[in-house]
Amino acid sequence: MEYVKSKKYQTSDFMKKIMGPNPLKLEEELLIDHKIKDGAVVCDLGSGQGLTSVFLAKEYGFKVYAADLWSDPLENARFFETMGLCEEQIVAVKADATDLPFEKDFFDAVVSTDSYNYFGRDAHYLDNKLLPFVKSGGYIYIVIPGMKKDCHDNLPDELLLSWTPEQLDYIHDIDYWTRIVSDCQNAEIISIKEMQSNEECWNDWLMQENEYAVGDRKAMNAGGGKYLNFIAIVLKKK
Ligand SMILES: C[S@@+](CC[C@H](N)C(=O)[O-])C[C@H]1O[C@@H](n2cnc3c(N)ncnc32)[C@H](O)[C@@H]1O
Repeated sequence: MEYVKSKKYQTSDFMKKIMGPNPLKLEEELLIDHKIKDGAVVCDLGSGQGLTSVFLAKEYGFKVYAADLWSDPLENARFFETMGLCEEQIVAVKADATDLPFEKDFFDAVVSTDSYNYFGRDAHYLDNKLLPFVKSGGYIYIVIPGMKKDCHDNLPDELLLSWTPEQLDYIHDIDYWTRIVSDCQNAEIISIKEMQSNEECWNDWLMQENEYAVGDRKAMNAGGGKYLNFIAIVLKKK
């Protein structure tokens, strides 16, 4: 696919901020024909160093709350400022996705890129921890790294070159995620599908020189990518 919007961010300074396979390309595919209304208030859940948040604000015109646990909100706020964005457009928040510091029914939508698999594997998460903060009729767009077919009982050696079984337990197939979100009472499933984006997003990540990207090269250079995909999930709050 051609990534018209993400292409603008393909510089070494921006790519230094990614924390996994190119999240902008993943998000661009996730949001093709999206149903989020113009000017919506959107939570970028698990926003990392804020690159996806800038993307949502600048390319889609949303008012974005960049909510993340591990990153420093002050540093993210400085980055947003250097990108010419003001507080009316984007806000950095230190937030645990399992205990969100927002008012109920606050968001028109949630977009979560390469992070939902850290906190969303509990089947009660949506109903109890996330949907209360989303308006009725609001959307949740999620992209996560996935497995083509769950193989946790017999993990391929290639994957074990870079990741422990515990780390691989964050990654599952479409059947697994369908079971998790199907248990939800307060949202309807719009779609769950394998994404087209894969190798190009990995390549953008593997060429980074941080220790995580370098560590991931072992599995991917050994062919571990054939077991992996990306999964897009779209939900609508009832
Ligand atoms: C692989 S990074 C992806 C960051 C960003 N979306 C991107 O693609 O560049 C995963 C992110 O999930 C966030 N995360 C993990 N557990 C979280 C939680 N319980 N609440 C909020 N964020 C969490 C981490 O802080 C981290 O920034």
